Amino acid sequence: MNSTTEPRLKRIAVFTSGGDAPGMNACIRAVVRTALYNGLEVYGIRRGYTGMIRGDIVKLESQSVSNIVQRGGTILKSARSDEFRTAEGRKKAYEQLQTFGIEGLVAIGGNGTFTGAEIFYNEYGLPTVGAPGTIDNDLYGTDYTIGFDTAVNTALEAVDKIRDTADSHDRIFFIEVMGRDSGYIAIQSGIGGGAELVMVPEVASSIEEVIETLKGNFSRSKTSSIIIVAEGDEEGGAQEVAHKVKEYVPYADIKVTNLGHIQRGGSPTASDRILGSRLGNAAVEGLLAGRKNVMAGLINNEVVYTPFRDTLIKQKPIHPDLLRLAEILST
Ligand code: F6P
Repeated sequence: MNSTTEPRLKRIAVFTSGGDAPGMNACIRAVVRTALYNGLEVYGIRRGYTGMIRGDIVKLESQSVSNIVQRGGTILKSARSDEFRTAEGRKKAYEQLQTFGIEGLVAIGGNGTFTGAEIFYNEYGLPTVGAPGTIDNDLYGTDYTIGFDTAVNTALEAVDKIRDTADSHDRIFFIEVMGRDSGYIAIQSGIGGGAELVMVPEVASSIEEVIETLKGNFSRSKTSSIIIVAEGDEEGGAQEVAHKVKEYVPYADIKVTNLGHIQRGGSPTASDRILGSRLGNAAVEGLLAGRKNVMAGLINNEVVYTPFRDTLIKQKPIHPDLLRLAEILST
């Protein structure tokens, strides 16, 4: 990157978009403080692309981000904007940013956020660096996304509690965890919570396999089981899977729990606070170094910048060792 040919940035803006994730606040704080440390002015755009279109943009100072590193959610709020999908919406957004004199953007979010950011960059050329904020951990270009670790720990706490009641009543629980297209939360909470089976979208699941597992468990006098189902599994969510299985094991006492949005909230774990802080800092330093149209991620504990395009089209498959481990440990 040749800093001599790049005019120095004076004013940047940060926003959070898509599903919120614990650690986004730590990331916002790092963006603001790194920007101020480097003599930049920094603005916050409220409610993601929706706020960009409306000009809901506020100046942030060091104190604006005090006392937020430990808080879940996002102080900038978040939204999924249909209007930004239109050329007209993006034009309005660009005009608003021009009014505020914004010369660079930090986009904190997941694949929807980066899809929008890439199109916007290609149309208007405003330098944008992303930070991966999503509980799904489904972005190529970073080992972990901000919010994933907290979500897994939240799911795990719930799995442990359900295990107690499942055991007391000799019941089979199907527990649905989030992950629209991704089984990361499912596999990690399955291994950590000792699930008898984990169903993820990345691997073809079969109802026969679930039935065999349960019958095998019954024959070994194992009277309670936990089956974790990622919401995006091809056999359907936990409710649907449980319904399909029930007719083959009518004697089983089956219950379903959908953990839902509790996985998105709560105080971020140490890992998510540190990851959010590092990537917020890296996003601003990336902008200052002239990077654009890329996401800052952490791979093997090193900051890596990956083009938005690659974060969107390249796959980040679940490591086969994890899938194997889940299977071995559940026998
Ligand atoms: O992308 C994060 C995520 O929590 C997914 O796991 C889930 O499918 C989706 O967001 C839910 O989105 P919403 O809160 O808009 O219903």
